Amino acid sequence: MNNWIEVCKLDEIPRSAARTVRAGDTVIAIFRLSDDRVKAVENRCPHRQGPLAEGIVSGDDILCPLHNWRIHLDSGEVAPPDEGCVKTYAVKIEDGQVLLSLA
Ligand code: FES
Repeated sequence: MNNWIEVCKLDEIPRSAARTVRAGDTVIAIFRLSDDRVKAVENRCPHRQGPLAEGIVSGDDILCPLHNWRIHLDSGEVAPPDEGCVKTYAVKIEDGQVLLSLA
């Protein structure tokens, strides 16, 4: 069963941008897409640990700010020809509140 934690209000994250939250040693980037869906991945590019929250949102992907790898925010998979995967987290909106599951 998911254990949801409150992160912030959706309105506190600008469209096509992210906010980060820390959970122990892990920093998680929560993205608000242009259509107000939210996605959450570990804030660490699988290439050289680039801070994904500072990247550019492109559709359902994030472009890493360091070397421009493209990472799909649903699956965490890196787009070819690059390879790798970043951990994803369940995230949802309820009553305008962003909720994150660390499960
Ligand atoms: S650190 Fe993300 S592409 Fe290099």
